[in-house]
Amino acid sequence: MKKKILVVLGTTRQNRAGEGVANWVMKNLPKTKNTEYELVDLRDWPLPFFDEAMPPLASQGNYENELGKKWLEKAKSADGFLLVTAEYNHSVPAVLKNALDYWYSGWMQHKPVAFVSYGATSGGIRAVEHLRQIGLELRLLPIHNEVNIPFIWEAFNEDGTIKRESQVGQLHSVIAELDAWFDLVK
Ligand SMILES: Cc1cc2nc3c(=O)[nH]c(=O)nc-3n(C[C@H](O)[C@H](O)[C@H](O)COP(=O)(O)O)c2cc1C
Repeated sequence: MKKKILVVLGTTRQNRAGEGVANWVMKNLPKTKNTEYELVDLRDWPLPFFDEAMPPLASQGNYENELGKKWLEKAKSADGFLLVTAEYNHSVPAVLKNALDYWYSGWMQHKPVAFVSYGATSGGIRAVEHLRQIGLELRLLPIHNEVNIPFIWEAFNEDGTIKRESQVGQLHSVIAELDAWFDLVK
């Protein structure tokens, strides 16, 4: 059976560029042997800022907030993750960090996590570096290959295709690494 990768669209503000990036990812996924992909948009998961009485490790993810519980269940049901992230002030958008704070590490069981980032000159690399550290704390395993899209406001054509075509190849190398991961851990 194929492994399920959740593609998380990690920004929610009006007029976000993230939607175009996530749609580009979904449209350019190569066919793979081991993995299939589902897009989740954090706009559909309006989680409160984490305000549970107990930290995730103490409650073991048994949250009072129903949506928080469902969000953790959603993560548990996946075999890996592809985070689509912007860079906000050299780091992770708060809404994405908050969503990750609900992912109790005990349930993450060293699932792979990959990244597609975008931003201004940096292409979001500083957000990805922080996400790699956060991922390890959650007992996820960050994979090496990543896509970083700079100057996001001029990166795409009107039809949603990317101007720098080599970035499709980079996306495919991310997916190939995720796919290979599941061969390694069989
Ligand atoms: C609060 C905020 C902080 C930002 N900080 C950075 C930054 O540190 N580095 C960068 O390259 N771009 C930064 N940007 C520009 C974003 O990369 C760009 O606006 C991108 O479109 C944001 O993603 P979104 O449109 O999906 O929200 C920032 C944008 C916002 C809204």
